[in-house]
This record gives sequence, C-alpha cells and structure tokens, in this order.
Amino acid sequence: MLTDGFKELLNIGIALSSVHDLDKLLDMILTEAQKLTSADSGSIYLVEGDKLIFKTSRSNTYFKRWGEKKTREIFKSFEMPITKQSIAGYVALTCQPLNIPDVQTIPQDFEFHYNPTLDKKYDYKTVSMLVIPMLNRDEKIIGVLQLINSLSGNKIVPFTDEHQKITTSFSSQAAVAIQNAKLTEDLKSAHFDTIFRLSAAAEYRDKETGNHIKRVSHYSKIIAENLGLSQQDSELIFWSSPMHDIGKLGIPDAILQKPGKLTPEERAVMEQHTVIGAMVLKDTTADVLKKSRIVALTHHEKMDGTGYPLKLKGNEIPIEGKIVALADVYDALSSKRCYKEPFSDEKVISILKEGNGNHFDEKILDVFLSSINEINTIREKYSDKEEDFDKFADFKNINILELLK
Ligand code: C2E
Ligand code: SIN
Ligand code: SIN
Ligand code: FE
Ligand code: FE
Repeated sequence: MLTDGFKELLNIGIALSSVHDLDKLLDMILTEAQKLTSADSGSIYLVEGDKLIFKTSRSNTYFKRWGEKKTREIFKSFEMPITKQSIAGYVALTCQPLNIPDVQTIPQDFEFHYNPTLDKKYDYKTVSMLVIPMLNRDEKIIGVLQLINSLSGNKIVPFTDEHQKITTSFSSQAAVAIQNAKLTEDLKSAHFDTIFRLSAAAEYRDKETGNHIKRVSHYSKIIAENLGLSQQDSELIFWSSPMHDIGKLGIPDAILQKPGKLTPEERAVMEQHTVIGAMVLKDTTADVLKKSRIVALTHHEKMDGTGYPLKLKGNEIPIEGKIVALADVYDALSSKRCYKEPFSDEKVISILKEGNGNHFDEKILDVFLSSINEINTIREKYSDKEEDFDKFADFKNINILELLK
C-alpha cells in the first residue's frame, strides 16, 4: 500500500512538473491530494508577503450539488492575515502539519480555532482535517494544503498517519512545481510587459495609443485560431505581433507625425520601418522574438507582390506576416491616425474586400470577415479614448517623485 502510494507519488511528481499554468497546476495538486487521502474536499492557500491567499478549492460534495463552475464562482479567491488563530495560518507559521480527527472538538483554549462560517452558510459539515505546510527546497513555506473529511465508504473518518506521511512528501513536490509555475508566469508577464512598453514607446511618437498594439495582437490571435492554427501557434502570433511596428523608432518625427500625405521620398523612408524592426530583432534565439522579427519584416508585403520591403508574392509571405497585415490594416482603417480620421464600418469592409487576393490572402480575409463579431468585441474593449492621445505630452505635468516609488 505504502509502496504503491509512493510509486504513484513519483508519477504525479513528473506530471506536476509539466504543468506551467498556475491555476491548472493548483487544481491538479488538489485532485491528486484528494485521491491520496480519500478526502471529500480540499483547498490550497499560497503565501504572498504577509498574507495567505486562498487560491483553489475542490469539493466532491459541492461539485455534485452545484457543478464545478458554480462552485468556483462561489468560492472566489480571498486573502487573510497569517495568524495563529486560523488553522491554515497556524500551519503556515509553525510549518508543522496538523491532523485533526474532529474540528468540532478542538478545545476552546487552543491557539487556533475552527471557523464554521462557511460550513453554516453552505450547509456542509467539516469533521476531519489534514493540513500540511508546503515547503520549498529551502524549507521556506510557500503555501498550505488543507484536506477535509477523509471518506471510508460514505463515512467520514480521521486522516491516518500514512495519509499525513504521503501528503507531506507530495506537498514538497507540489511546492517546487508551484514555485516553477510562478516563475514562468512572472517571466511571461515580464516579457509581455517589456514588449508592450517598448512598442508603446515607439507608438507614443506616432501619437497612436498603446491600444493599437493590443487590438492588433488580439485580432491576430483570433484570425490564427479561426484559421485552425494550434493553440500554441496562435499564442505565439499573439505574443509576436505587438512588435510589428517597433521599427518606427527609427523614423524621424517629421515623417512619422506628418499630418498630411507623405511625399514619395518620405514614403520610401517610412517603408524602412519594416527593415529597421527586423534589424532590432536580429540574432535572437527566442522563438517568440524570431516570429516578431518575421512579422516586423513582412507585415506590409502584399499577395500580388506589390508590397514592401521584399516584394514577396503569395505563399512566399510567411503566414504570420499575412495575418498581422490584415489585422494592422483593419485597425488603421477603423481608427483615427495623425493623417486620417476613422472610416465607417462599410468603407472599412469595402476597402478590405478590394484587397481580396491582391493585398490579402483570400482564406485569411474570409476567416476574418466571418469572425467580425469577435473582432468587434476586442475593438470595443480596447477602444481609444481622447486622453490616451495626450499621454506623451503628460510628462511635463507629472510629479517626478512618483517615478521613484
Ligand atoms: P498605419 O497607419 O498603421 O497603417 C497601416 C496600413 O494600413 C497602411 O500601410 C495601409 O496599408 C493601410 N491604410 C492606412 N490608411 C489607409 C487608407 O486611408 N486607405 C487605405 N486603402 N489603406 C490604408 P502603409 O500604407 O504601408 O503605411 C505604413 C505606415 O506608414 C502607416 O502605418 C503610417 O504610420 C505611415 N503612413 C502611411 N501613409 C501615411 C500618410 O499619408 N501620412 C503619414 N503621416 N503617415 C503615413
Ligand atoms: C499571460 O497570458 O501569460 C499573462 C500576460 C499578461 O501579463 O497580461
Ligand atoms: C492572452 O490572450 O493570451 C493575454 C491577454 C492580454 O494580456 O491582454
Ligand atoms: Fe507597419
Ligand atoms: Fe501598425
């Protein structure tokens, strides 16, 4: 039994290390911990600073009663201070597991108390509880795993010593996986944040708003998904499209911000933004930045070979370039630019259709037009507001000390 349990544990450990999405990981950890201990319910708290954040809970009783979705809506994330009065707080502070056969009989003079509020509110009876600190490799507490009501048939029984032993080993594997997932999330969000800020810096000079790049990213992802690209490829396009115009950093203000039509000479300089962008992204080893480079270089190519800078034709144009080309033009047509007002929806659609097959890939345009409701939802969500246009001028008015915080 023990041997099987620990064998099982090894497999779970390997499975856990392959999940990088934190919410999915926490859910998987709880599911496995419930299986190891025949627990009806369970929750995970994570330590953040001096607080415990209630992150995830699973309950067979509630899932049967309400389904998973509704249960999750009811048990939203909340935070609490780490104090010895609560059971989870006590475990977080002492780093010792608690195995409580019956929470209803915890003596009044104990440091920690069982809080029956949720049980009362949702008609549940917590009896046995196994609460395990999740310690990382440095023996630092990163969270608390709380299991409720071990079942033997339909009967609630206390958790056994063996449950405690196996869950303790399990929770240290879980802690490592959680730490890795958090690091991945942090790197991903830092990556996105950096891309977004750099691209926005280029766009501020352009007097476009940061919303342009958000919209183009989302439009591109919607097109990719509806074209049938894999989730991973669609996301790669989402992450690589914000930098399509990063090369505008190298275009002089007099051209970039010219209120009227560009002369042929100015236009030739402007077209260099594709090559400058690709140069900025040269020699990267990261997949997403390689894609960004391809997008920067090819988002103004046209199907009939009249685009720039390479005059590529048809399938010589990489698919991500074709997708972002359409997303970008749609956004340029439907938004205000320094050189133009937004066009009406009818005019936008008619210009796109004029480009069918000569500017845009027919299949991609087709998919785009049949996704127009999804596209419009994004357009509303990230719509430009007047104040967004003034951000660049704003630095003269801000309190510089704010930037020190
Ligand atoms: P952008 O403003 O993001 O525009 C992207 C693309 O949308 C344009 O690529 C073009 O294909 C399409 N587009 C934009 N406005 C119109 C329009 O009124 N009619 C039609 N049919 N298509 C339109 P393009 O032309 O290669 O321009 C690349 C970038 O060069 C533009 O990015 C913008 O920053 C700049 N630009 C283009 N034309 C002018 C202009 O007349 N004045 C100024 N100041 N900048 C311009
Ligand atoms: C993500 O999708 O991984 C998060 C990106 C963000 O920080 O907005
Ligand atoms: C995503 O859709 O992957 C992220 C959305 C965002 O960060 O705006
Ligand atoms: Fe461009
Ligand atoms: Fe653009």
